[in-house]
Amino acid sequence: MLKKFNILLVTLIFVFGNVYSVVAQETTAEPIFEYSEINHPVIGRNGMVASHNALSSEITAEIMEKGGNAIDAGAALGFALAVTLPRAGNVGGGGFMLVHVAKENKTIAIDFRETAPAASHKDMFFDEDGNVAAMDPSYRFSHKSSAVPGSVAGLAHIVEKYGTMTLAEVLEPAIRLARDGIIVTYDLAADLARSDRLKNNPAALRKFYKPDGSNYEVGELFKQPDLAWTLSEIAEHGVEAFYSGSVAEKIVADMEAHNGLITMEDLENYKVIEREPVRGTFRGFDIAAIPAPSSGGTHVIQMLNILENFPLKEMGPGSADAIHVTTEAMKLAYADRSKYLGDPDFVSVPTETMVSKDYAKALAAKISMDRATPSEKIAPGNLAIYESDETTHYSVVDNEGNMVGNTYTLMFSFGSGVVIEGTGILMNNNMGNFTLRPDIPDAFGLLGSENNMISPLRRPVSSMSPVLVSKDGEAFLMTGTPGGSRIISANMQTVLNVLEYGMNIGDATVAPRIHHQWFPDRLMLESGISPDTVRLLRQKGHNINFNENSAAMGSMQSVMIKDGMFYGYADPRRPGAKAVGVR
Ligand code: DON
Repeated sequence: MLKKFNILLVTLIFVFGNVYSVVAQETTAEPIFEYSEINHPVIGRNGMVASHNALSSEITAEIMEKGGNAIDAGAALGFALAVTLPRAGNVGGGGFMLVHVAKENKTIAIDFRETAPAASHKDMFFDEDGNVAAMDPSYRFSHKSSAVPGSVAGLAHIVEKYGTMTLAEVLEPAIRLARDGIIVTYDLAADLARSDRLKNNPAALRKFYKPDGSNYEVGELFKQPDLAWTLSEIAEHGVEAFYSGSVAEKIVADMEAHNGLITMEDLENYKVIEREPVRGTFRGFDIAAIPAPSSGGTHVIQMLNILENFPLKEMGPGSADAIHVTTEAMKLAYADRSKYLGDPDFVSVPTETMVSKDYAKALAAKISMDRATPSEKIAPGNLAIYESDETTHYSVVDNEGNMVGNTYTLMFSFGSGVVIEGTGILMNNNMGNFTLRPDIPDAFGLLGSENNMISPLRRPVSSMSPVLVSKDGEAFLMTGTPGGSRIISANMQTVLNVLEYGMNIGDATVAPRIHHQWFPDRLMLESGISPDTVRLLRQKGHNINFNENSAAMGSMQSVMIKDGMFYGYADPRRPGAKAVGVR
């Protein structure tokens, strides 16, 4: 199915397709997709970036064109998105990166997840009667809803340890964009127009709306002078500015004034943790992803292990049988997530068992091809412990083999909605990823156990995980997505679409997604799945509700690498994303 890669092909795609930059030279490399396929990845010769903001992707590609490596560029993109994609890009949140350092040939999971403040406790969101109002503003949208941010430390960590540029250099584009302003895109205007709750916080109102309180319109200039100050302080004084210096002082003062829990000591004690990625295989490919406290890597591997026991390719992508088996695998994995996941520095997490092929075989044997197993009949496995809602993802790869996949978040769109006075920093509400009580679902309807209850300095369980697929030691695909609980299922389906169904990364991204998270017992389907298939799935006993569930799930930003060529694809599910090839 592969064709010679020639000038004509490149030129035609350049003219008619969504290719951003291609050097049209003759080469013998085989493209990984056909001209006749429906979704065409962007092609790059010297690297690739895919992110949720077009302007930021372009700036990031330029950094690599000027000699920066993917790690410099990945850090710069993290800071730039705090300016251009303020609902999710951040300095007031945290996340997880997979970084591949070419010269050491090692892949590292960088945990820069937020931590619970020292003064937090498991009952902090319950009232005197022991009730918790899940939508209580103090739980969702207050200074108290923020955990100690890790993004500045995480981005600085990778550039200082593995980059070639200085922290000040990688901050420069973000400072410029915040200070001189950005042109408001449709994505940003629409976001701000529907995020009225930002008006409840005076500093957020001043930052995100015009002086008369009206919305920014598409095409207008939007400046963030306070954020420019914060970023400049970090450029001048290093991460200390944020964790103990001038910026920290403002964060602590704002916390003190509004019953927030974050203290100077909490900020000073924040640590980035380098972890060994969780690893698995699928049909001969190697998978590396993020281990606990994220559940994202463990359960992607667990589901792929279960699915390896079924002839999915023969069933056909999108067929009722394939959707049925995939759904059943999801239920089993999310059930285990609810019981076992927690911060591994505080509780034991049986990751090795959950990603083992034997355990997956036992789980696969429980799947009936004819009937959906009701979720109440599925319980988390009994595993011996024998071993010690808005987010964004981007993927950056250079021609030396360095890679950064970063999924980071403020949790909800615009996080807690709290902007720290004088800093332009929007704070996260990731305390909401802790389990309040095992019977109370979290913000994404996920159940958890004691393992994930609030406790000082713990990191809440996450679903975020960049995923790196490689073959015989050669990187093949870096991908990832936002989507709360749906991050795990969307990542898994993208890998499945490429490795099992042989789709190019464009088709793999665009294909309709499904999601089941054990509880609620409901199969969510994106539009595009045929009515016949839905009928067959209902016959097998799946509970499907299209009206509630037709919204798009996830936003994958992927880079594929084959024979020295780079193929990028930015998920079209939300506006404004772009893959840009490095010239
Ligand atoms: O860590 C997590 O799993 C969540 N805070 C992610 C939130 C998210 O993806 C929301 N985006 N749509």
